[in-house]
Amino acid sequence: MTRLAGTVALVTGASSGIGRSTALELARQGAAVAVVGRREDRLSDLASAISDAGGQAAVVSADITDADAAADAVDRAVESLGRLDILVNNAGLMLLGPAPGADLNDWRRMIDINLMGLMYCTHAAIPHLVKAAADGPRQVADIVNIGSLAGRMAFGMSAVYCATKFGVGAFSEALRQELTRQHVRVSVIEPGSVDTELRSHNLPAVQEQIAAGIGGIERLQGEDIADTVGYIVTRPRHVAVAELLVRPTEQA
Ligand SMILES: NC(=O)c1ccc[n+]([C@@H]2O[C@H](COP(=O)([O-])OP(=O)(O)OC[C@H]3O[C@@H](n4cnc5c(N)ncnc54)[C@H](OP(=O)(O)O)[C@@H]3O)[C@@H](O)[C@H]2O)c1
Repeated sequence: MTRLAGTVALVTGASSGIGRSTALELARQGAAVAVVGRREDRLSDLASAISDAGGQAAVVSADITDADAAADAVDRAVESLGRLDILVNNAGLMLLGPAPGADLNDWRRMIDINLMGLMYCTHAAIPHLVKAAADGPRQVADIVNIGSLAGRMAFGMSAVYCATKFGVGAFSEALRQELTRQHVRVSVIEPGSVDTELRSHNLPAVQEQIAAGIGGIERLQGEDIADTVGYIVTRPRHVAVAELLVRPTEQA
């Protein structure tokens, strides 16, 4: 399937989980993909997998919590692949635990990547996306933000993670309203529990608590969210999917 032939996508947090699956899916649909993250070895493996399957990828290693580095990452992607039609803001961090007595550094780290990193990349990408919507093969461009179920419902032990993801929802909707007439669609996907490395940054006791909270259900895979991204960005020009909440069937 080559519905995205001639387009260029940039995926943040492509070195693992949902981002890796999304980069593979967009490449499968014909997009050239700039893969962004800090772990360059993982990004290189992914770029090889994409080119082995006949696609095109550019490795852009960057820590996007730095505004200049994020802008530079977008510039490098456009320089390597020639344009930018689709931005998938996926990079994120989830550090859970009780709010009283929490390490403020953990809170800052989540805000820096889940909100600021997403905003820095978006800010840098908008001029390219507006141009792509005017002169691109699809006459439309996309920003897809990966929010969370925790951006719809707040849970104890997740105060700041929820705050960042509610923020992603608010930022996405406001931006969507601003970019309608330029044919840049802004979408937010809110996944439930997905089987990725996301939990692994927490202390073992917290990881056990998260697992117990979810129960022994069959979780989503990164591919399930990648499929959702693929659906959103292949809608006809006049159809904008603003928001999708995707849960595992067994998740209450
Ligand atoms: N898994 C779930 O259950 C779930 C549910 C709802 C929403 N989400 C959201 O889905 C998104 C992807 O998470 P995931 O589940 O796929 O987890 P993951 O496997 O841990 O992926 C997180 C990605 O973010 C990147 N990242 C983190 N900090 C970064 C930084 N400073 N600069 C650049 N990249 C950075 C990581 O790459 P490097 O370490 O290489 O930089 C990694 O590729 C996140 O926004 C998460 O909040 C996940």
